[in-house]
Amino acid sequence: MSFAQYMDIALYDESLGFYATIGRAGRRGDFLTSPEVGPLFGALIARRLDEEWFALGSPDMFVVVEFGAGPGTLARSIAFAKPECAPALRYLMVERSAEQRTLHAEHLDGWLGDLDAPGVDSFVRGVGTGPRFASSSIAPYGITGVVLANELLDNLAFDIVRHDGEGNFERLDVHHGQDGLEFVVAPTEVSASLAAVLSSATSGEWMPLQEHATQWLAAAIDRLDRGVVIAIDYGATTAEIAARPEMGWLRTFVGQERGGHPLDNPGTCDITTDVAVDQLATIARPSVITTQRQFLERVGIAQLVEEGRQIWTENASAPDVAALRARSRIGEAEALLESSSLGDFVVLEWTV
Ligand SMILES: C[S@@+](CC[C@H](N)C(=O)[O-])C[C@H]1O[C@@H](n2cnc3c(N)ncnc32)[C@H](O)[C@@H]1O
Repeated sequence: MSFAQYMDIALYDESLGFYATIGRAGRRGDFLTSPEVGPLFGALIARRLDEEWFALGSPDMFVVVEFGAGPGTLARSIAFAKPECAPALRYLMVERSAEQRTLHAEHLDGWLGDLDAPGVDSFVRGVGTGPRFASSSIAPYGITGVVLANELLDNLAFDIVRHDGEGNFERLDVHHGQDGLEFVVAPTEVSASLAAVLSSATSGEWMPLQEHATQWLAAAIDRLDRGVVIAIDYGATTAEIAARPEMGWLRTFVGQERGGHPLDNPGTCDITTDVAVDQLATIARPSVITTQRQFLERVGIAQLVEEGRQIWTENASAPDVAALRARSRIGEAEALLESSSLGDFVVLEWTV
């Protein structure tokens, strides 16, 4: 099978896939994402949601579809931040893993359950005051609002390919050999638009071919009547990714540590890649590209940290939970803005 087929099974198969069984984002999980650093990230995303809601003319119905919601931490922080769009907000957590969807109900007032297709349809078109939250494996079309994905695209199945500089491509397939699973090189075809992007990388170097990510983006844009698609991830150009020594872009994680070879013990570790921004751009050029640092500064991280500092100073002699939470913004901001880490992630926005 292709590596993309293998990866899809290793991460998402209902009985053995990493995300269907043991895999989790979070401090006690396998890797730390921005929402899992603490509630500050969600408070800042809430500000971006408000900005979009106002830009759309404060519609009565404002739908946010968060893809790859994991355990639902970002939604909880957004609810906690009480954004101005809350009365109009219908927030759908689209998560492929049923196991992770069972975690969404925790600490989320206004959660309406794990919905099937008709349920999703009425959720995004229903009446009544928000905020309302729900979960599903299915995402709707025809919405006004925001499609959001934090660290989803690096987890969508990809192939591993190289070119010879003359328009010929090879990929790594996965075979069952004498000593277990092994890579085998096979000739392959690549669509013209992606072939042009891949050819910008040095010939002979292995690189990810991210067809699932580009298909996700095409569908995400199609889902919106009006609004914005926002994807946040570690990203680079295909040429930059291919240039990483020893395929350093192909990473595995388990229990906050780097894991072993991706073909060892399928289902026991996360498999990820840097996201190739120029491959996504074959679907549509982003309207805005910033680093996470630039994005968070623009939506007011300094102001929220200063506010937290003041609340802490006023309550330091007898701190309550709110004061402790306010103080923790300082450390959270450092982590979210850190260079060569979360601060250097890319935030890609496609306005529809
Ligand atoms: C790296 S985790 C990120 C979780 C969360 N967004 C965060 O930032 O902490 C990626 C999540 O995407 C989910 N996922 C993968 N493919 C998906 C798809 N096509 N639709 C919805 N969820 C998906 C996985 O099950 C996993 O929970």
